[in-house]
Amino acid sequence: MLHDQQVVVIGGSEGIGLAVAKAARAQGARVLAVSRTREKLEVARKAVSGLEIQVGDINDPESIRGIFSGVTAVDHVYIAAGSTKVGSPLDHPIQDFKHRFDERVWGSIDVVRAAHGRMRAGGSFVFTGGLSSDRPVPGAWVSGIATMAAEQLARVLALDLAPIRFNAVAPGYTETPMWDSIFPREGARALDAVTARQPVPRLVSPDEVAQAVLLLMQNEAITGETIHIDGGARLV
Ligand SMILES: NC(=O)c1ccc[n+]([C@@H]2O[C@H](COP(=O)([O-])OP(=O)(O)OC[C@H]3O[C@@H](n4cnc5c(N)ncnc54)[C@H](OP(=O)(O)O)[C@@H]3O)[C@@H](O)[C@H]2O)c1
Repeated sequence: MLHDQQVVVIGGSEGIGLAVAKAARAQGARVLAVSRTREKLEVARKAVSGLEIQVGDINDPESIRGIFSGVTAVDHVYIAAGSTKVGSPLDHPIQDFKHRFDERVWGSIDVVRAAHGRMRAGGSFVFTGGLSSDRPVPGAWVSGIATMAAEQLARVLALDLAPIRFNAVAPGYTETPMWDSIFPREGARALDAVTARQPVPRLVSPDEVAQAVLLLMQNEAITGETIHIDGGARLV
């Protein structure tokens, strides 16, 4: 149980991060949710009793250092923040793509550098990979390399910074607000035809991903692992 432990969720105002914040609070953890938008954080605070919130941006190392300098001790950090850009590698300014890789990989490293000195024994970091590591989608090439790098980051840091534990979750098609910006009319429901072909023929829920994140936080025998929560999407 996470009772009385300090959990920090970077990207905790919506979607999977918010589900992790809610699940950790339900176990009695102190939870600090961080994201860029105060309005979203205020909505999250109303939805999750006792949630602490702070504005911060994983793309800004100084903002991340500021977040952790205000926290005395940390038990677990989950990093949900991470965006994608779809398009040909030949068509868009390369910086649009580099930015998506940098935030997921170098942003995670900035979080680790800011937080590890405050981490208590038994502590862990959980990163976010994704289905595109195993099943690349045309146009989403930058997601494929960035999520795979996040999963590999968990494996290498599990060695370099032991006994702190590092793990990752790899969600499949998950019903979150992320899809509203990609498919403004239907949101995640636009994926119904795709998920119908999966062994578990539906979207994953954010709560199902959160269950895996909490398992990785709590089970002190697991490090360097990636848990796939994708309804079997990798198999078809
Ligand atoms: N949904 C899926 O199907 C799916 C599948 C595979 C992997 N993933 C990955 O899972 C993670 C969470 O996805 P989601 O679907 O829950 O996304 P989401 O619904 O868009 O939520 C993203 C959260 O991260 C915050 N955030 C975004 N950029 C940030 C930044 N630079 N610094 C700090 N916070 C930031 C957002 O709040 P603000 O906008 O206020 O910052 C929000 O709280 C992402 O890394 C995504 O790539 C999602």
